[in-house]
Amino acid sequence: MQELAKEWKRSGIRVALVPTMGALHAGHLSLIKHARQAVSSSGKVVVSVYVNPIQFAPNEDFSKYPRDLQNDLRLCEETGADVVFSPSDQVMYPYKSEENAPALRESTYVCEGFLSQSMEGVTRPTHFRGVTTVVNKLFNITLPDYAVFGAKDFQQAAIIKRMVRDLNIPVEIITAPIVREADGLALSSRNRYLSPDERTQALCLSQAIALARQNVSQASQDAQSLKADLKAFIEKNPSAQVDYIEFFDPETLAPVAKVQHGVQIALAVFVGKTRLIDNATL
Ligand code: PAJ
Repeated sequence: MQELAKEWKRSGIRVALVPTMGALHAGHLSLIKHARQAVSSSGKVVVSVYVNPIQFAPNEDFSKYPRDLQNDLRLCEETGADVVFSPSDQVMYPYKSEENAPALRESTYVCEGFLSQSMEGVTRPTHFRGVTTVVNKLFNITLPDYAVFGAKDFQQAAIIKRMVRDLNIPVEIITAPIVREADGLALSSRNRYLSPDERTQALCLSQAIALARQNVSQASQDAQSLKADLKAFIEKNPSAQVDYIEFFDPETLAPVAKVQHGVQIALAVFVGKTRLIDNATL
């Protein structure tokens, strides 16, 4: 992959990367379309499909995360990607083995230290270190001019933008809007874990965002009391349990006390055993 990317660079061909963990859906495919737009027909669109072990904690769903490479390849081809980079663990983390002495394991990580401290970073303390490290590796392997991330993972996109700025990484980050089902549920590879009943209850995330939006159009609201109202609204669903609801500045991710127009809401909710996230600018 790196040799191919170097060859493209030498020929002046622009490259756009879409990093994914596979189990592709219309949300991922929209990123491929944004990537194509960025480099036009003369450039190359690379989709990486890799379930990155170091961004999962031991209690998370790494082993049961959906994997369907044949279907992913078909979707990438249909959507006009040029290359799918789907490395093995052995390629990405050749030294990561329980048998290896610490001195032989990989020991270099990329850690963002500020934006990653809230929300997803609280519930999943080692998650973003895994994301920033693998995204750096993918950048170094595919040498992209552009990389496309979805607003679905709002905090992830903010952290990647900060990383690129802080480390002078010569990649332009493009953020693409959230793709939703007709009824409002944000598309996610994890939606396939939901039972039919849980799928109905999962609407509480987008409905809570709509409710927050209504409140903002009436008057600026106290963030704490609106959070309590939304939590009660969500947990009327018997299988739903709120992990967090945050109101914050979309640029700095700093929490706000008053919820006004332009404030970002993000929330994580367990529906049964499945943890779902959503967000929006109010
Ligand atoms: P994954 O969850 O597969 O998501 C890959 C990309 O698709 C992310 O940028 C995500 O925000 C975007 N995406 C997912 N659902 C979307 C939706 N409904 N609408 C728009 N975009 C959507 O995020 C990861 O993988 C990993 O952390 C990764 C960046 C690949 C690093 O391992």
